[in-house]
Amino acid sequence: NTITFIQPSGAPAIVTVEPGTSLMRAAVTNGVDGIVGECGGQAMCATCHIYVRPEFAGALPAISDDEEEMLDCTTAERTDRSRLGCQVKACTELDGIVVDVPSDQV
Ligand code: FES
Repeated sequence: NTITFIQPSGAPAIVTVEPGTSLMRAAVTNGVDGIVGECGGQAMCATCHIYVRPEFAGALPAISDDEEEMLDCTTAERTDRSRLGCQVKACTELDGIVVDVPSDQV
């Protein structure tokens, strides 16, 4: 599956990962700036905050209570496109997903 991370500068980073890989892990292992994943994917740090492009919103998993709480603690402003990268996993439905990296995070 491919995932495109768009930096605040507009520069895209396209990475390819196995299905089931979280967007946070995909970014960290491929050296994408702005996604730190400090808590290791436990929905406890919000350093993996991303903005998902609206065209993929329908295929996203539901937001858990833990994610909901952390999304209120993000460095960059929370929007209706905000998700934690560690809680969204690559899958067929989300193949080619495009997400924006928040500018305050880089
Ligand atoms: Fe910590 Fe996602 S990696 S909340």
